[in-house]
Amino acid sequence: MKVTARAELAVIGGSGLYALLDNATDADIDTPYGKPSDPITVATVGDRNVAFLPRHGRDHRFPPHRIPYRANMWALRALGVRQILAPCAVGGLRPELGPGSFVIPDQLIDRTTSRQATYYDAGAVHVNFADPYCPVGRATLKKSAAHNEISTTDGGVMVVIEGPRFSTRAESRWFTSIGGAVVNMTGYPESVLARELALCYSTIALVTDLDAGVEGDHGVTQEEVFRVFGENTAKMRGVLMDALATIPLDRDCPCAHALDGLKLPIELP
Ligand code: ADE
Repeated sequence: MKVTARAELAVIGGSGLYALLDNATDADIDTPYGKPSDPITVATVGDRNVAFLPRHGRDHRFPPHRIPYRANMWALRALGVRQILAPCAVGGLRPELGPGSFVIPDQLIDRTTSRQATYYDAGAVHVNFADPYCPVGRATLKKSAAHNEISTTDGGVMVVIEGPRFSTRAESRWFTSIGGAVVNMTGYPESVLARELALCYSTIALVTDLDAGVEGDHGVTQEEVFRVFGENTAKMRGVLMDALATIPLDRDCPCAHALDGLKLPIELP
């Protein structure tokens, strides 16, 4: 694998965010896990080299359960990326988290069933995942949102479902009862694969709908999710560009040490 482009920061764009950077060049990277969702675009933001990857592909051809998560995270690390911001669309599991709310989760619950969620299929590599998100990334996203006059809910549990269907009302009520604040389909295994590569990873979640157990009558529709995301794309871009310009590049957080003392059965890029 020959990689010439370099970037230290990355954004993984979700539904409705398929491009972010001006004057970008494509880095067409292959990995031991296949190709990422799309060529990764690399550009400068101020004096920083930034990569952007649309997790569903530019044309949204990968549904959440088919995204090549392992290739995506591997390719970003191969580019030199160590800090990842991963915006996403979510459903609200509480009435006060209605469409248009921004949440910076601090926890997740994995309810996925079919995904390859590790690089370590041999040996004994058990990473600490007690706190799945980078504290520095979370704090930066919060500050950047405030700079853009966007209020955020700081903390909250994101439930990640397999999809591609939305939840039943009973599932949704259950997610709320076990402490869920928001629900989505892509937050796992992206987050744990980042940890397995000792990458910093944090997410800012835009609520596009109230999930079926909270919402009154019709349940969630795909049309609603994309429409509300579209209405808030400019805000999301503003937060991300601010965060890319200000996030500390020195890593003094636990994520950077996730693999310390572990004997890896594979060589990382
Ligand atoms: N993404 C956006 N809204 C969602 C919902 N209600 N459930 C799962 N994923 C979502």
